[in-house]
Amino acid sequence: MPPYTLSVNGRSHTVNVPAAMPLLWVLRDTLGLTGTKFGCGIAQCGACTVLVDGEATRTCMTPVSAVSRRSITTIEGLSRDGSHPVQRAWITEDVPQCGFCQSGQVLAAAALLAKKPRPTDAEIDQAMTNICRCGTYQRVRRAIHRAAGEV
Ligand code: FES
Ligand code: FES
Repeated sequence: MPPYTLSVNGRSHTVNVPAAMPLLWVLRDTLGLTGTKFGCGIAQCGACTVLVDGEATRTCMTPVSAVSRRSITTIEGLSRDGSHPVQRAWITEDVPQCGFCQSGQVLAAAALLAKKPRPTDAEIDQAMTNICRCGTYQRVRRAIHRAAGEV
């Protein structure tokens, strides 16, 4: 039952929204955190990925009621100044093209490296299911290897 208390990027927010409202829209429309993107709406593309208790989570199909009081990290909160190792590797490898999928890619990569500090190509391919219409997959993989061991 609303209201729900959410912990987003280390700050507590109380939101008065319906239980079934997807977390994506709470983040974007209620809290104004627009770095998390809408792509497909059916948990396929990964554009809406954030971390929930460290797990890469597709927020377009995650009801807000499921994440009450859990720790949510969006791209705005991964680091204060873009200095997370994955963000630095992304810049060095010049990964983005249009950029639309990239906040989800970065958070999925951060979750992978937190669990597997030095993933193989096969492990990267298995974990990184986020879709990029610009086809940045090779640079995503290079950037993950660059950040390996630093997360
Ligand atoms: S918008 Fe959520 S997975 Fe595509
Ligand atoms: S950079 Fe354009 S969709 Fe991935």
